[in-house]
Amino acid sequence: MYEKLSATAQYIQKKHNFTPKVGMVLGSGLGAYIDTLEEMIEIPYDEIPYFNETTVEGHKGRLILGKVNGVNVAILQGRLHAYEGYDMEQVVFPVRTLATLGAEYIFLTNAAGGINFSYKQGDLILIKDHINLMGKNPLVGPNIAELGPRFPDMTKAYCGELRELFKLSAKEINYDLKEGVYGAVLGPTYETPAEINMFRTIGADMVGMSTVPECIAANHLGIKVAGISCITNMAAGIEEKELKHEEIKNEALKVMETFSKLLTLTIGKIGSLEQN
Ligand code: HPA
Repeated sequence: MYEKLSATAQYIQKKHNFTPKVGMVLGSGLGAYIDTLEEMIEIPYDEIPYFNETTVEGHKGRLILGKVNGVNVAILQGRLHAYEGYDMEQVVFPVRTLATLGAEYIFLTNAAGGINFSYKQGDLILIKDHINLMGKNPLVGPNIAELGPRFPDMTKAYCGELRELFKLSAKEINYDLKEGVYGAVLGPTYETPAEINMFRTIGADMVGMSTVPECIAANHLGIKVAGISCITNMAAGIEEKELKHEEIKNEALKVMETFSKLLTLTIGKIGSLEQN
């Protein structure tokens, strides 16, 4: 596993001699963010050793290297999900690759269903913590000591300083950025209304089928994580509507302008941290 990661990172670095500061995963419908990049290089997943193709519509499957506000950024446009049948090691391989390339920060983005009654469709929510309801964990199995410890601390799974930077960025654009707890399920079914009521009771503000494995893998590696959920729909049972993947993707597109500004401003702030 560790050898595979090193080989993958070497392949990418040999071709492009690029060290990212920030790594990013773009969730369902959020792939258009790459249009804001400067000096962009695209590498389809099928050209990268040990990378798997994503099978989900709305997920493109490309690694993008480029600059945002002068900061080197590596973006995974399209992610692998456990519900596609990938094992957890495959799901987190791309994020581990970004870390191996040198990323010090990982931004995880996703589409999520709103559970908290104060949320509405189209809200962007800063993830402050998560509840893993997937019944799986990417670190099960022999620990890879080169990557991190056997029992990683998850007290600060979503970095407090990064969250402060996102809040500052939101203030600059007058955006009311709320924070919430992300509950991760395996999927691929959306939830039942009874499940959503249970998730609310245990403290989840939103629900989705991703992000948590990547957050765990990044914390194992000691990398700072930030998470942004786009509330593409209110979760099952809150409104009368049926949940449809197509509509969820379209909803994410509508918030692209605010989403882009939040990410770009925050990356700029990370760039200035370095200079001080
Ligand atoms: N449930 C789970 N995953 C999701 C949802 C949802 O309601 N919306 C977007 N991803």
